This record gives sequence, C-alpha cells and structure tokens, in this order.
Amino acid sequence: MGIIKSLKCRECGKEYEPLFRYICEECFGPLDVKYLYPDSIRRDTFDSRTDKTYWRYFELLPIEDKDNIVSINAGFTPLQKSINLGKDLKLKTLYIKNDSVNPTFSFKDRPAGVAISRAKETNLKAVGCASTGNLASATAAHAAVAKLPCYIFAPSNLEYVKIAQALSYGAEFVAVDGTYDDANRVASVIGDSKGIGIVNINMRPYYVEGSKTLAYEVAEQLNWEVPDYLIIPVGSGAMLNAICKGFEELNEIGLIKDISHLKIIAAQPHGCSPIVDAFKSNRDEIFPVEKPDTIAKSLAIGDPGDGLYVLKRLRQYHGFAESANNKEIIDGILKLCRTEGIFTEPAGGVSVAVLQKLLDAGKIDRDSNVVCYVTGNGLKSTEAITEILPKPSIIKPDVQLVSAMIR
Ligand SMILES: Cc1ncc(COP(=O)(O)O)c(C=O)c1O
Ligand SMILES: [Zn+2]
Repeated sequence: MGIIKSLKCRECGKEYEPLFRYICEECFGPLDVKYLYPDSIRRDTFDSRTDKTYWRYFELLPIEDKDNIVSINAGFTPLQKSINLGKDLKLKTLYIKNDSVNPTFSFKDRPAGVAISRAKETNLKAVGCASTGNLASATAAHAAVAKLPCYIFAPSNLEYVKIAQALSYGAEFVAVDGTYDDANRVASVIGDSKGIGIVNINMRPYYVEGSKTLAYEVAEQLNWEVPDYLIIPVGSGAMLNAICKGFEELNEIGLIKDISHLKIIAAQPHGCSPIVDAFKSNRDEIFPVEKPDTIAKSLAIGDPGDGLYVLKRLRQYHGFAESANNKEIIDGILKLCRTEGIFTEPAGGVSVAVLQKLLDAGKIDRDSNVVCYVTGNGLKSTEAITEILPKPSIIKPDVQLVSAMIR
C-alpha cells in the first residue's frame, strides 16, 4: 500500500507525522501527503492490473493496510473519445472523462472513498462532510459500507434528489439555512469539537488524494501520453489542484515523460466565479462571493478554500480561467447529450461551455489534444433543464391519433 512519509505544509514545508491533522501549526498552511514511492512501479505495474477501480493505484494512495480500503467500486471511468462534439467544435482531438458514471454518480466517490478508508484506518468513530450536494452521497455511501455514522452539512436549497440520495444511504442530513460557506463553518467547528472526521475539512490531506486518480486514469487511458489541455470545473479548487498533483507525481516516478506542454483551464459558473474574476483581473487575492447565484449548485462555493492555489496552478501551467452563464451551461448540457450521449449535471455543462468559449476566442489551439472533465450526472439535477425542454404531449393510446402526430 501507499507508504506515507509525512504530511508536508504546502507553504513552509514543515513535515508532520501522518495523523489526524490538516493545518500547519507554524503558518496555518494546508498539508499534503508525501510518499516513499516503491522503486518497482512501472507502467506495466498498472497496465496489467485487473482491478477496474481507482484502487488500482493503491501504492500511490494514503492507506497503509489494504484491509482498511472502503470501496464501492468507483473510478476507472470511461475516457470517451469524442465522436461528434469535437467535430462540431472543429477540434482535432477531444476526450470526455466521464466521471458521472461513478456509483453515486459524481467524481466525489474518489476523495470520499480515500478519506473514509483513512478514517477506518485511524479508528475514527464517525464521519461527515460539508457539501454542495455530490459529496453528501459519496460520503454517505462509503460511510454506510464502513458502518460509520455520517453527518452531512449542506445548504438547504440543494436539488432535492441530492438530499434524498444521501438520506437513503442512512446519513444524518443537517440542512443549513444559508450558503455552502455557512455549512462549511458549522461542519468545521462540530467536526473538531466532536472528533468527527469531516472528509473535506479535517481529513482534507487524505481526501484530496482521491481526486488525483483523475490524472492517473487519464494518463493510463491515453497510453501514458499527456494531453495538451485539461478543462476542469472548479468549486473549492481541490480537484483541480489534485489533478495537477497527480500528473506531477506520475512525472516524478517516471511513468510520463514530459508535462511542460500541459495547460490547465479552470471553469466556473457565472454567479459564482471568484477564481475566474481574480484570474482575469490579475489579482493574487480572491474576493469571496457572498451569495452565489447559479444553476450549477455543485460549484456554488463563494469562498473557495483552494482558490489561491488554483491561481498558482493556472500560472504555472499557462492556463486560463473562464466562466459560463446559466444559458451557456444549459446549452453545454444539451450539446453533450446530443453529440456524445452523456447526460451531465450543470457542472459538466460549465466544462463544455467554457471549452466552446475558449475555442471561439482562439485561446485553445484547434490542433490540440483536449480532455474535458465531466464530473457529475444529469439525473441529479433535472430541475436545471426541465423548464427549457419541450413538454411531451399527452395522447390517448390510439394508433391513428399517434400516427397523425408523427410526420
Ligand atoms: C460535480 C462536481 N464537479 C466539480 C466540483 C468542484 O470540485 P472542487 O470543489 O474540488 O473544486 C464539484 C464540487 O462539489 C462537483 O460536485
Ligand atoms: Zn507551514
């Protein structure tokens, strides 16, 4: 399994024992997991594995004993080579990383699964999360399998299906009358005072490790070639950072050769785009959005925890940040459905819309190789599109009547 060397402060570099800790005592910087990589890892170590989940990369994940893995078989999702969308966009090579087909229907099964496995490994007695919707179900499902009590803190205005799904797994759902940032504050205090492993707060160093498998899988599925552009939907920015960390680790252990051509695109919804705004005005400061207003509720994080690190990544990787409004998001959802047969929730619509905008603006080279991350399933957010879809006409079961309707 992964041999954890330390938890290392991203700011001052101080190293700590890998315990239940997430902030540097010296400078309050976030902590990242550092590993002792086994020398034996080669490309064929993974190519030859039959495990079709993200646990196929167990040497690079922060669990020391395989028996502690809590798996619901998430990951190793399709990297679908575009059949029609790329052509429509006049883009040479487009892949969709379709993470909407995970067991709880979003990429959050990756970070939640790793964090809850670590909770089991460190004998925590309860887990939970602060959520914009998808993490709720991912955490609740893994907690159910681990037989741990689970507490979800989320804004009360979520899509109801996301609440119903988390409740069905048996979680306690605290619907906070406020924003995600309010729910996050409550979860943080409750987690620390009651010793609950809040996966995306006090277990964050382990949690983010799950999302880096989105880089490992894309690299392996492309035969260890590195794409030119990644389009990544951004809320807190944790996933974007983790994907960058994933490519960097593969480079460090020699599984991929060169990441110098990799460019990272951050995609946010208009109405909650504090990172895009900072990037476009060349600021090194994020101005939080107090009241997010967007149909992309899963990305409605007004005060993104990893926002400054996303800005750093965009500069490091010659990237861009762009936002899409509600109409563009809906167009993106329908375009992906009608070209590739993939039904995404608004977060995926944001990715597609931003890809289109940057191509139109000439900021993405049409000869390049692009991977667009689609991270959540459309069935979780049908209310975002029902109003603009045609209402099916109700008709008596009479063949003549129906036949008259079909030209
Ligand atoms: C479907 C989906 N995509 C993307 C994100 C953004 O992830 P992050 O908050 O790590 O930036 C989220 C966050 O909840 C999400 O639910
Ligand atoms: Zn520090």
